[in-house]
Amino acid sequence: MLDIQKLLAEMTVEEKCSLLQGKNDWYTVPVERLGIPSVMVSDGPHGLRKQDDSKENPGMNEAITAVCFPAGAGTACSFDRSLLEELGGLLADECQAEHVGVLLGPAANIKRSPLCGRNFEYYSEDPVLSGEIAAAWIRGLQRKGVGCSLKHFAANNQETLRMCVNETIPERPLREIYLANFERAVTRGKPWTMMCSYNKINGTYSSENSWLLTDVLRKEWGFDGLVMTDWGACNDHVAGIKSGLELEMPRAGDDDDAIAAQAVRDGRISMEELDRAAGRVLQLVDRVLEGRKEGMVFDREAHHRKSREMAREAMVLLKNDNELLPLARGGKVAFIGAFAENPRYQGGGSSHITSSRELCALEAGADYAEIIYARGFDLTAAEPDAGLIAEAVQAAREADSAVLFLGLPDERESEGYDRTTLALPENQNALVEAVLAAQPNTAVVLHNGAPVVLPWADRVPAILEAYLGGQACGGAVADLLFGEANPCAKLAETFPLRLEDTPCYLDFPGDGGKATYSEGIWVGYRYYDKRSMPVCFPFGHGLSYTTFEYSNLTLSTDTLEKGEITVSVDVTNTGKRAGKEIVQFYVHPLAPQVSRPVRELKEFAKVALESGETKTVTVTLTPRDFAYWETGIHGWYAEPGEYLVEAAASSRDIRLEKKLTVVNRPLPVPVSGDMPYGEAMKIPGAEKILDSFLKDAQSIAGLASDQLGESGKAMMEAMLRELPLHSCCSFTPVTRETVAKAVEALQKLPQA
Ligand code: BGC
Repeated sequence: MLDIQKLLAEMTVEEKCSLLQGKNDWYTVPVERLGIPSVMVSDGPHGLRKQDDSKENPGMNEAITAVCFPAGAGTACSFDRSLLEELGGLLADECQAEHVGVLLGPAANIKRSPLCGRNFEYYSEDPVLSGEIAAAWIRGLQRKGVGCSLKHFAANNQETLRMCVNETIPERPLREIYLANFERAVTRGKPWTMMCSYNKINGTYSSENSWLLTDVLRKEWGFDGLVMTDWGACNDHVAGIKSGLELEMPRAGDDDDAIAAQAVRDGRISMEELDRAAGRVLQLVDRVLEGRKEGMVFDREAHHRKSREMAREAMVLLKNDNELLPLARGGKVAFIGAFAENPRYQGGGSSHITSSRELCALEAGADYAEIIYARGFDLTAAEPDAGLIAEAVQAAREADSAVLFLGLPDERESEGYDRTTLALPENQNALVEAVLAAQPNTAVVLHNGAPVVLPWADRVPAILEAYLGGQACGGAVADLLFGEANPCAKLAETFPLRLEDTPCYLDFPGDGGKATYSEGIWVGYRYYDKRSMPVCFPFGHGLSYTTFEYSNLTLSTDTLEKGEITVSVDVTNTGKRAGKEIVQFYVHPLAPQVSRPVRELKEFAKVALESGETKTVTVTLTPRDFAYWETGIHGWYAEPGEYLVEAAASSRDIRLEKKLTVVNRPLPVPVSGDMPYGEAMKIPGAEKILDSFLKDAQSIAGLASDQLGESGKAMMEAMLRELPLHSCCSFTPVTRETVAKAVEALQKLPQA
């Protein structure tokens, strides 16, 4: 629709500069003279939070009514790309009906610590799952002509001082954990826009990090859209534009237009840089205009029903001893806990939706059984209330079974600050103990956006993690409790036993605005598995009312050099009900030369099976799935050697495994005087060059004589292998000149 090159040729510098910040909080700047309209962006990601323009002075948080779908923490647990695509599509319909051109989501940051206040919006501790889920959401939204803004790029992993914290993140975890999720979402979802994060990474604000915004995002990953700031994340408008940022949001004021224009005039911003930035804003406007569907109407009630269906797919059955669930229909059940009546179904902050309606479990449960309700605890207090507990115990006794509705009150979990504890309020834990003593058939339903510690997890027979399930969450909970639907989600994050066990416990959220990611790549299950630590519920865990068996794990080849391999496994529903199983494929290096996680998720698939039915699940893996980020070459490297490909029901429930050999060239070894003698000796041809070193060292160490004995020799040899070449001068008669010459000769040896 827009002829971008022609428009750029016609625009003045001032007009181009005016495009590089918002018109206000939510709109881009129009250029009426040239017929360039303004387009609107609005918050997501699990509903449309559009500012109510009909009001005279709408506050930033006053929004129109919309449908609140389940939050990201839950939808990620569906491991279901098609569900996320459908969700994106429903959100696009709501945006089209409201003339919103860009929905600000998905939020795909990695869950570094379960304490992060915004984890309820984020997907996972794992980059593959997080990236896949985000990409699916993006495809679904954009297919219907609405753009997304993948956020917050990158490493917005805490809310404490989020707008200025400086995060020190080494290269390998940055690539393997904190960028890998975005890489996948960008390359597979092709977002129209990205939202850069507030924080600094290794000293540089994301909004002016040219390595991040240009070298990695555009040059390496091929991103062809626009980068906007998070709201208020611009530190230096000119530095931003030069680094690969295009749009500052919200409007900072007329000053920034003048500052940009002056920088163009005095050559700090080149015309090419200005045209790139203004051109990308025009491209976004063009995409929105092209995608616009005038007159869109959608059925809000149908969306509410969809929200209920999606919530059923997003809730995780963590435990179900003696098949307590599903509950018998038509019986008498005590629903206990304030969340049965007032479910907490979304988090606080910019994602908060003005919901079109709400459905609580108390109302929905009445369709299935006679419900007796007891509030059990006060949502605004933490101390146990003896009267409320006594009432709850009475209700539990009167009923055939009890369901406790627990979770985090609103103020305990929100954008803008982090949690300080993983504990539930004390009054809820006290309630569990009292009800459990009175009624052994007690199930717990949890309403929270991130893990909590469950001191009674061993003693409560059934636990359903409902997460923040959207406005129809009470309906979904009732459907699952009474078996109208079969649970089919699995955890996208680990539930630890204690806060003290979490990988970044010692460094989160850092001191004085500095966060050091010293746990490196050991995030989530990568950490717990490497340390063989017990956890409360592992990554990838989730039960069903039926059971599944895995058989016939097959690899298309047992050697991988390039291209891809096909991995397939048969899954059989061995129980009595129809159900869905999430099959996870992990890669497990058998003898890595560098530190690697025990296993890493590389693929997953969800399969629906009738009772007794078998289906074959097939995925593909490429050399990249076996690679780690090698800092020596600043690139991905699949180390040659043996790996297991595992088909698993969770990260701690590996059902089948097959061995695979990866073939690859060895890494070039950087040769210098710092190189340990033993490493140098591994280079083909080195033995000849280091011949004199060997002899002299042997004589000094007494290796040539019998004096040392076998074990003494072995110890000496081990120590020698560690000796850097330059230190040989100190312990052998070898001179510095000999060392220098040897290093030179080694450097000339051809390496495979
Ligand atoms: C949040 C973003 C949000 C923006 C606009 C920021 O504070 O971090 O996720 O899209 O506000 O509301």
